[in-house]
Amino acid sequence: MCGIVGYIGRNNPKEILLAGLKNLEYRGYDSAGIALKNEENVQIIKSIGKISALEEKINDIELINANMGIAHTRWATHGKVTLENAHPHQAGYITVVHNGIIENANELKENLVKEGISFYSDTDTEVIAAIINKFYCESKNIFKAISKALNILKGSYALGILVSDIDKVYAVRKNSPLIVGVGKDEYFIASDIAAIINYTNRYILLDEDEICELSFKGVEVSKDGMIVEKDVLTTDLISEDTSKGKYEHFMLKEIMEEPNVFTKTLEKYLNNPDLLIDLNKYEEIHIVACGSAMYAGMVGKYLLEEVADIKVDVECASEYRYKKVFYNKKTLVILISQSGETADTIAAMRKAKENGIDTLAIVNVKTSTIAREALYKLFIEAGAEIAVATTKAYLLQVLVLSLLTVNTAYKKNLVNLDALDEVKKLPMMLDEVLKRSADYQKIADTIYENEDIFFIGRGIDYAISMEGSLKLKEVAYIHSEAYQAGELKHGTISLIEDNMPVFAIITDEKNKDKTLSNVIEVKSRGAKVIVITSEDDLEKFDYEIIVPKVNKLFQSMLIVPVLQLIAYYTALKRNCEIDKPKNLAKSVTVE
Ligand code: G6P
Repeated sequence: MCGIVGYIGRNNPKEILLAGLKNLEYRGYDSAGIALKNEENVQIIKSIGKISALEEKINDIELINANMGIAHTRWATHGKVTLENAHPHQAGYITVVHNGIIENANELKENLVKEGISFYSDTDTEVIAAIINKFYCESKNIFKAISKALNILKGSYALGILVSDIDKVYAVRKNSPLIVGVGKDEYFIASDIAAIINYTNRYILLDEDEICELSFKGVEVSKDGMIVEKDVLTTDLISEDTSKGKYEHFMLKEIMEEPNVFTKTLEKYLNNPDLLIDLNKYEEIHIVACGSAMYAGMVGKYLLEEVADIKVDVECASEYRYKKVFYNKKTLVILISQSGETADTIAAMRKAKENGIDTLAIVNVKTSTIAREALYKLFIEAGAEIAVATTKAYLLQVLVLSLLTVNTAYKKNLVNLDALDEVKKLPMMLDEVLKRSADYQKIADTIYENEDIFFIGRGIDYAISMEGSLKLKEVAYIHSEAYQAGELKHGTISLIEDNMPVFAIITDEKNKDKTLSNVIEVKSRGAKVIVITSEDDLEKFDYEIIVPKVNKLFQSMLIVPVLQLIAYYTALKRNCEIDKPKNLAKSVTVE
């Protein structure tokens, strides 16, 4: 949510900051801004809309000859999308870019206004700038000023800071990601390594409330006035991961990468089965996540309960963190998150830890907060996922949950390991499924003008339906709902009209006939039925996609890519901004 990039060094900061912002645009994209600095001046340029609009503006302006700067792409929280509210914000000596939310900003602002300080925006960020500036004017010591400000700010922040009369860049973070990139005679800050991967693959992880000072000579991290020694780490991300390659959109590229990342993740766990912890020592599991990660968890629930005979509850993290949760000593909390930075999922993890409960994270970004704080971690090998709507990461989350299920069930003698022979064939089958784009385009052609769509399924097929429905909402802006097929008749069926698309997901053999009866119910009320199934002997309806039949442990992973591609082609027909859907952000680091 929002992207930060900062630079100090021998090269032109303008180019580096703009390139960084473009790589971060998926984190927020309603406005953007840049602050350039040299010994004499700080120059701020902001613009509404995409980074390209900022770039155009910058190209029309005479720029100062700068050697450092900070930049930001915004996903509005405090204050509307206006030029005034776009970052960077400046108060006196201090210029800041900020990700996160300051919860006591209004209270702090009122006090500052009483002291005679004026504000020009509605943002909490300007309050941060004003407070640091106030303390800096008092002491002329930037470390003291930043520390004092951090002591009174409540909430989350990643900050890039320029000080008019100091030729350095400062960075701090709390509950919001920020890394420090280490190049050759040049240093960076970024909310995501993707922003700077074209310049360096070496980075430092900042811990909460450490202050990082970046100068032309290097990087120094301190906490409470004491220097902290930090390890310089290396990422295996490569710059190709952050470009679209031959594809028109990241979403399509990432769906097409599924067979490869599936193989990579599968091999890792087949070669190191000990990584998969034995869930049998737990009596119950809470899976907690947001969005698609939660729907991956729903698939996991059906697998773990039915195949491994272990009780699982799935909860959305924004509810879980505040509700009364009944734990016992044998509860395990599984957190699922692509980014590892989703604020609600982090809070849910910390709640479990505070209650002395074991936590297991299924996560993609290895440097993330969740990856660092969970007791056990199972990484998926999705690489960089740039499109806001997740595709390949979702698939791998389900893969890891399936492998955990096999592992747990095997130890209880509930399955034999033959199932694993089948999962090895999945990448090839996935390839086949992904090739059938003409079939998916045909379905997109028939649904793209509808404004309401239903997805129905029972059992695990209901869990799959939820992800299919979410994808369509996210990228094609079509209202759609996923329903348990048997529940439809209790009210919702009144909404079925002539020609309304109803997707029926049918893979669960024991429920297949029941779901088919529900399909007939909607069909007889005029619905246009699209069946996505692994069964090849079903009655024919309007449209049908049949995927190869595999063990139920892995079946959903052949169905969901079909739904992802249908959502993609539908969004394409509707001319939607596929990779950056309106109002959404990839990594939701605020509540
Ligand atoms: C956002 C994204 C979703 C994602 C969810 C959880 O809403 O748009 O695609 O599923 O966050 O993100 P996480 O990084 O925790 O998996």
